[in-house]
Amino acid sequence: MYLHGTSKINDQGHLEIGGVDATQLVAEYGTPLYVFDEALVRQRCSEFVQAFKASELKFQVAYASKAFCVMAMCRIVDEEGMSLDVVSDGELYTALQAGFPAERIHFHGNNKTIDEIEMAIDAKIGCFVVDNFIELQMLNAIAAEKNQKVKILLRITPGVEAHTHEYISTGQTDSKFGFDLGNGSALRAIQEASQLANLEILGVHSHIGSQIFEVEGFRMAAEKVAGFAVQVRKETNVTFQVINLGGGFGIRYAEGDTPLPVSVYVKAITDAIKDNFGSNDYPLPEIWVEPGRSIVGDAGTTLYSVGTTKDIPGVRKYVAVDGGMTDNPRPALYDSKYEALLANRATEQAEEIVSIAGKCCESGDMLIWDLNLPKVNAGDVLAVSCTGAYNYAMASNYNRIRRPGVVFVKDGQSDLVVKRESFDNIVGNDLIPARMQQVAQKV
Ligand code: LLP
Repeated sequence: MYLHGTSKINDQGHLEIGGVDATQLVAEYGTPLYVFDEALVRQRCSEFVQAFKASELKFQVAYASKAFCVMAMCRIVDEEGMSLDVVSDGELYTALQAGFPAERIHFHGNNKTIDEIEMAIDAKIGCFVVDNFIELQMLNAIAAEKNQKVKILLRITPGVEAHTHEYISTGQTDSKFGFDLGNGSALRAIQEASQLANLEILGVHSHIGSQIFEVEGFRMAAEKVAGFAVQVRKETNVTFQVINLGGGFGIRYAEGDTPLPVSVYVKAITDAIKDNFGSNDYPLPEIWVEPGRSIVGDAGTTLYSVGTTKDIPGVRKYVAVDGGMTDNPRPALYDSKYEALLANRATEQAEEIVSIAGKCCESGDMLIWDLNLPKVNAGDVLAVSCTGAYNYAMASNYNRIRRPGVVFVKDGQSDLVVKRESFDNIVGNDLIPARMQQVAQKV
């Protein structure tokens, strides 16, 4: 397993993260457990901020909280001087409860409800990223009722799609998100928005994909957006002050993943903006980005206890852990690859190839196929790396399994930032209708 951030193997042959022995974390908090290397999270934040500072452009780095949204994480994002992107009332509520400054919150989403819009306007968030014509009218009407003027970006679909190593300029219109550049919707949206008295257009937003390992897609997006900005300035009286190029910066989950350093992505973006806007004699806009995975992904490790094994001679050996698709649905959903080691016997020689199964009642509940490990025993601690992004965020209670706790580790100290769910959490929202209570009592 690749050792990210402060992770290392200590003198006892145990995995250590943030100066804390993984076996000690297991003894204190139990398993499964999400462990975050706080220093690595902060390092990633600072890599983005420093790279933008070097460009001398005005900027905002907005953490895409969908990757991992808990109150302690919002505190870190604030302390690192970044902004925050939310996509639901739940994420907004989390940020506000954590005391995150509302003016640095951006609200995304292709189907914001009236309640969400009202909540966000009342909280005085910094900006809405408007996704479609209905939202444009709805937002203006609600803002008017409240006697507010709200700042907006318009999300455009630039016709650039990036997938890991490939990027394609499709000019495709078939996306549920945003105003299409190719078919003229984006221009119409700007024209319409500029007539709405309670909206102030800051600029446009585009997001081209996720887990991207190349800069070419970002360059193409910057070029298209700049071209659009020039056209808009010619045909309307709107000049963009802000260009948001979204997130999508890739990370290393497993061998074969080849992310670029954060500074390389950022330089490609800022250079492309300078080139494309500068050459059109356009005032250089402020650049915003929205990294999620690249802030928290490789800082997360999940610790599990090994339970049962099933050896099918000549076929495969299954090793089951006390979690699975409930705490990490990504292998089942996306066929994602992960690396792992035995945290309590990290220096021992690999002896067997095993496949790591979860405990859910579903054959698809597999975490890792064909992993090289020392001979595994019940009670061993399996550490799966790179589980910081979209794991806790997408965890479920399937099979009524309780979601694990989350611990931040740093400088030899551990702090619980999310408690493990209790049985009360499991049945806490259940209600038994009165007409069934008699039956329940009989039993
Ligand atoms: N901005 C927008 C508008 C987005 O839609 C996303 C991700 C981001 C920023 C952050 O992208 P990142 O830097 O994290 O790649 N559940 C999937 C990922 C879905 C990403 C959706 N949008 C997964 O587990 O891989």
